[in-house]
Amino acid sequence: MDLTVRPVTPGFGAEVLGVDLSQQIGDNVFQQVRQAWLDADGILLLRDQDITAEQHIDFSRRFGELSVAAGGTALSAYYLPGHPEIYRVSNKKVDGKPQGREDAGTYWHSDGSWQPAPPMASLLHALEIPPVGGDTIFANMYRAYETLSAPMKRMLEELQVVHSLGAAVLKTSYGKEYVGNIEEAMAKNATHPVIRTHPESKRKALFVNKGFTSHIVGIPQAESEAILNFLFEHSTMPENLYRHRWQRHDLVIWDNRCAMHYAVADYKAHGDRYMHRTTVKGDKSY
Ligand code: OGA
Ligand code: MN
Repeated sequence: MDLTVRPVTPGFGAEVLGVDLSQQIGDNVFQQVRQAWLDADGILLLRDQDITAEQHIDFSRRFGELSVAAGGTALSAYYLPGHPEIYRVSNKKVDGKPQGREDAGTYWHSDGSWQPAPPMASLLHALEIPPVGGDTIFANMYRAYETLSAPMKRMLEELQVVHSLGAAVLKTSYGKEYVGNIEEAMAKNATHPVIRTHPESKRKALFVNKGFTSHIVGIPQAESEAILNFLFEHSTMPENLYRHRWQRHDLVIWDNRCAMHYAVADYKAHGDRYMHRTTVKGDKSY
């Protein structure tokens, strides 16, 4: 297969042309795709992927072990019946029944950053898209780190930060109904370094996000808030963003270790959006 990789912004994100995941791809092609993803700072677009749920799962598995739905939780209804590897993101209802999670990720976040070993990657496949709206915005957290001043980098180097589901319940549209009460949500947390090292590229990336990040450990709340608010603003400066306008059958792969994202919830009056997501497990941060 003849692979072409072209950037989607001057310094972040790429599109791969010439790969058809409805056909079996060899290891050599897969490694080229994976490398293109790493080289693009963790955002890769493959258009026109008319693939089944099984093909989406099989391709995702080549990146690593997948997370599967935990049964019996408030979120389990959103997994695809028969395919617990696929989480459905959608505003659609059929006979009054939601076909996915409507309000998924409508705030800056890195998937599962409240977990001790957050997911490495997520692969989102667009099956139905509204005529307008419903974009996803990505931020390059390598560049967010690299564009800090040297004294700021030195100060952040030692800091640890708590991420929690409770923070998301308090600050975002992440509904409390998904996590029980606020105490339980607060208990779903993890402590990570503010600056994490990407285990493959060995580059440093800022690892805070407005949705899940609660506070910096061991400093007064007012200082923590001031520093975090600065970092949230710094990491979302326009030069640091790629806004993806979806087409049907797009597959976007993002690296949660060096990118964060934001689902723009502006489309609901305009049509239906229906997406399938797989999630690849990751390692503890360092
Ligand atoms: C997600 C998510 C973004 C979107 O599935 O993790 O944040 O645009 N979705 O649907
Ligand atoms: Mn997400």
